[in-house]
Amino acid sequence: MNDRHYTPAYIAEFVTNIISGEAPELVADFACGEGALLRAASIRWPHAKLIATDLDEAAVACLRGELRVHYAASLDFLNPPESYIDMQLSEFEGSISLILLNPPFSCKGRSSHQTSWNGINYRSSKALAFVLRSLIYLKPGGQVIALLPLSCLSSQKDAHVLESLSCQFEIEVIDQLQASAFKDCNVRVAVVRFTSRTVAAAGVASTEPPSMLTNLSPLFVTLVRGSYSNPPKKILTSGRYPLIHSTDLKRHSVTSARTVNSRRSTISSPAVLIPRVGRFRLDKICEYNLSTTSVLTDCVIAIIPASNSELIDLIGRMKDRYVDLDEAYSGTCAPYITLSRLQRFLARIAVCAVVPERSRDKIRLEVDTIAGRSSLEQKCAA
Ligand SMILES: C[S@@+](CC[C@H](N)C(=O)[O-])C[C@H]1O[C@@H](n2cnc3c(N)ncnc32)[C@H](O)[C@@H]1O
Repeated sequence: MNDRHYTPAYIAEFVTNIISGEAPELVADFACGEGALLRAASIRWPHAKLIATDLDEAAVACLRGELRVHYAASLDFLNPPESYIDMQLSEFEGSISLILLNPPFSCKGRSSHQTSWNGINYRSSKALAFVLRSLIYLKPGGQVIALLPLSCLSSQKDAHVLESLSCQFEIEVIDQLQASAFKDCNVRVAVVRFTSRTVAAAGVASTEPPSMLTNLSPLFVTLVRGSYSNPPKKILTSGRYPLIHSTDLKRHSVTSARTVNSRRSTISSPAVLIPRVGRFRLDKICEYNLSTTSVLTDCVIAIIPASNSELIDLIGRMKDRYVDLDEAYSGTCAPYITLSRLQRFLARIAVCAVVPERSRDKIRLEVDTIAGRSSLEQKCAA
């Protein structure tokens, strides 16, 4: 099973559009398949040299005929042969500025792959093993943009590798794709960027503000956007569940006076609540730790950590960088924040945020990313 779920052209274009700044000199894809990602790269940066490898000989041959590649070879990237081909590839170690990957995902049950990186052997999923091995070829300051199954970001199997990588790389979940993005494949996929921290701090390869918190271990959280609209103006206390609106977020705590009977958009685990719409202030970063279930209005976002113990850490990180969070609110009428902007802010404090399907902004991600976010943001503000 070679996981031939090739990247649709519009997603490949989105991936290359993430990169800003100088054109990369060398762009590689070590599981190139039919070359969708490299094709998009060659359109965006016509002078970039392309490096293409894949297990599938026929795919590589086809790509060679179609794209002007600097180096192409058929090889098993996870178990490379000690051969001439491998020697040739080793010439690129530490020299590739941009690596684009849609690696094979299939990894049965508990099976894992061993990869050596920085002299340490790591066990991980196949997809993350691809990322890890590709880092050998990354130029200092270069970036890897990988389409990874969401499970990579939350599974125990990959947690250790991500934690180790986060010391040297800023890991950002740029966006998530619809489950239907790939033909015949129902896996939820995240677009994840790995940027070498040293150069991110020097401001060379990334347009994102550098993370000052380089020694933080990554936290994994789920974002839930409330969806209860039109909260009752009157204070109703006969409902079953407390209703939490953005005006109930004050002085770092939640004081809900209204109740409703809806079970829509509920939250029942410890979380950080922030307003989605409205003016942001430091004291609007609120700890939610009620033992009851509550309902969130559509003006509130919940950031749910994986465990209670991580809640305090998360709040601390957010408070430390609340100025950046404030900047993520924008809008001509009422300021608001989108889930994508919140994800980008969280990535800077080493928090990988996953958005479950039901909580996503109503418009499909494809529309968001291709139309350049503005239409989505306008709808969110409305
Ligand atoms: C999901 S497809 C992605 C192809 C291409 N990068 C794209 O975005 O369209 C995964 C590719 O990985 C290749 N592959 C699977 N296992 C591999 C391995 N061990 N080494 C190199 N390539 C592998 C498959 O042949 C397939 O072309």
